[in-house]
Amino acid sequence: MGILDKHGILEKNITLLAIFAFLVVTIGGLVQIVPLFYLENTIEDVEGMRPYTPLELAGRDIYIREGCYVCHSQMIRPMRDEVERYGHYSLAAESQYDHPFQWGSKRTGPDLARVGGRYSDEWHVDHLRNPQSVVPESVMPKYGFLEAKLIDGEHIQDLMSTHKFLGVPYTDEMIEAGHEDFLVQTDPFGDVDGLFERYGDAVNVRNFDGQPGISELDALIAYLQMLGTLVDFSTFEPDASR
Ligand code: HEC
Repeated sequence: MGILDKHGILEKNITLLAIFAFLVVTIGGLVQIVPLFYLENTIEDVEGMRPYTPLELAGRDIYIREGCYVCHSQMIRPMRDEVERYGHYSLAAESQYDHPFQWGSKRTGPDLARVGGRYSDEWHVDHLRNPQSVVPESVMPKYGFLEAKLIDGEHIQDLMSTHKFLGVPYTDEMIEAGHEDFLVQTDPFGDVDGLFERYGDAVNVRNFDGQPGISELDALIAYLQMLGTLVDFSTFEPDASR
């Protein structure tokens, strides 16, 4: 009896076929899934990544609320045209604290994954108020109303706790100081030692919109100016062993 005849037995017996098909799928599934249990992390650890400061987190919420992701992606693909235009391709680690992530699939406007530090705060203020004033052919809507809306960070600690629940490593200390850190990031004359201690010296501390009070525009610009700047790509070396 050749192997083909034996296979014929399987093909003619539906119960036997079901059992063997089930076995094959089970083995295939295990081979794919089990190794993941033994990997501590599927994301390579990268130096410089940190959770967002309270003000950046608030800005990120405004970015999502206003639907900026509808026109902007935040993921640079490892292709030459993208890397030349936007900078180093995005690393998985760079969106590990994003819930939900902002990769996006639509680019009416440019990718924003590395927009941090590319323009001055004043440029962002002018551009968000009236995009056509700096880029005449722009189809981006005006967001000037954000500067009129002052925010006090009332719920920022709750927001941080929610992100902690989702896996962002906010410490109890960070959450406790959340409101304080929220207020001090726009005050260059404030006591920023705690903020730097918790989030690193590279955190931008400025009056982002140049106006008194903390507005939604301050928070949004704080978020934009941080994007893509956390990892230092002059020293970054991909770990090919993983
Ligand atoms: C209807 C689509 C659309 C929406 C919604 C939109 N943008 Fe834009 N955005 C554009 C286009 C198109 C450009 C390119 C022209 C320009 O610079 O205005 C752009 C450019 C930008 C730039 C400059 C990027 C660069 O590298 O030059 C930034 C920053 C930006 N947008 C931020 C935002 C933010 C923040 C929001 C949400 C508050 C937003 N955009 C919403 C279409 C959009």
